[in-house]
Amino acid sequence: MKLSVIGAGYVGLTTAACLAQIGHDVFCSESDLDKLAKLQNGVMPLFEPHLEDVIEGVRKVGRLHFGSTEDAIVWGDAIFICVGTPPLANGDADLHAIEAVARTIAKRATGYRLVIEKSTVPVQTGAQLRKHLSVHGTNGSKYDVASNPEFLREGSSVEDFLHPDRIVIGADSPRATDLLREIYEPIVQQRFDCPIHSDCPKRKKPIFLATDTNSAELIKHASNSFLAMKISFINMVANLCEAVGADVTKVAQGMGLDPRIGPAFLNPGIGFGGFCFPKDVQAFIRIAEKSGCDFSLLREVEKINQRRVEHFVEQVRNELWVLRGKKIAVWGLAFKPNTDDVRFAPALSIIRSLQAEGARIQAYDPEAMEKAKNEIPDLTYCQNAYEAAKGADAVLLLTEWEEFRAIDWKRLGGLMERSLIVDGRNALSPDDLTSYGFHYVGIGGVSGTPQELTSLVNG
Ligand code: UGA
Repeated sequence: MKLSVIGAGYVGLTTAACLAQIGHDVFCSESDLDKLAKLQNGVMPLFEPHLEDVIEGVRKVGRLHFGSTEDAIVWGDAIFICVGTPPLANGDADLHAIEAVARTIAKRATGYRLVIEKSTVPVQTGAQLRKHLSVHGTNGSKYDVASNPEFLREGSSVEDFLHPDRIVIGADSPRATDLLREIYEPIVQQRFDCPIHSDCPKRKKPIFLATDTNSAELIKHASNSFLAMKISFINMVANLCEAVGADVTKVAQGMGLDPRIGPAFLNPGIGFGGFCFPKDVQAFIRIAEKSGCDFSLLREVEKINQRRVEHFVEQVRNELWVLRGKKIAVWGLAFKPNTDDVRFAPALSIIRSLQAEGARIQAYDPEAMEKAKNEIPDLTYCQNAYEAAKGADAVLLLTEWEEFRAIDWKRLGGLMERSLIVDGRNALSPDDLTSYGFHYVGIGGVSGTPQELTSLVNG
């Protein structure tokens, strides 16, 4: 089928590439002309595992094209809107980019178009889109509007797109439902050439859930808010563990063994970040408020998350006492591993707090340093984890990249002023580190002190 994707961010680019991978003819548009030129010249504007290979493959066989929004609208029978919906100052989602696309569709499209919202939008946006398309339509075109929320995680978005647990669509006409079913059929049947695995035929077929538009829109916000709630919950449990001398990893393990709770999203740390959870929780609170529902539960989720940065800085202060003049290594800047995305990354807030107290930061991230430099230009960016740790009074692990688990601890200990690791993600093994002579401080009562230091630390 001929499909269009408007917007080449993480979601749009993954959607366009994967739809082409499963056999569709896709046209993807991008309004940022620099980014568009990069894409047309085969240069990736962002880092996302497997995406570059998929794009290269589908472009080679002519199934993916890049160009203007106008050309995309003319191209596709179905148009996926994947433009950004950033937060406004009051927490509402800013829908101006979606509105602008709808206006262009209404002016340019001829015949029938299925317009699909894939960007995360407040409930009832579909109804607004429908109204808007008919108000601005000038040439008698017919539209269906459907919601098809994405559940892609940055860092594994290609895998999530091709092997999802569920595909949710919200449509109010049988024609729209049928078209979406046809678009996703190769994924529902798990019948496509998989660029990631060799054993795909054995993989589970996803559930195709068709609902009305409002319900589909709510499913997205409710899912992200629920996951955010789980994280804030375990972060509070972590605080409690620190206060009473328990170990949050054991508590989370014990909780997660109950299938009604499950082990996922029970890793405590420096808080959730990225461009989805913080803004989606805010937007969901606002949606509820405007609908006369008091969702103060989610306000607490937000507050708990906001306090994570200060809590972590306090942990560092407890260890280093005075921060002024201290050399601190920061490992990890991205809001999570396997991405170069630093939007709402807790690591950046922690660095700003430490800098405000006079600490000197030496930072390293495998992928996110270029983007971090735009946010915080005035810190020392290093080539690797060892360089960052040189002469440091502490290493703070703020993003759990796999390479930090494979560090040569003996070598590291020799480089540092003081062998102290503060692990903001509980990603390392306290036992391993103490065996190499490190004092280890994790989240939620997880810690370790080498034998020879115990008496010194305890005075
Ligand atoms: C999230 C959802 O997981 C996706 O399903 C959704 O499609 C996406 O938002 C979106 O709305 O577009 P993402 O933001 O890429 O995906 O990242 P997650 O893996 O969900 O992590 C979010 C944040 O929570 C990260 O900062 C991560 O470090 C933190 N986190 C996650 C924890 O602190 N603890 C956990 O146990 C899990």
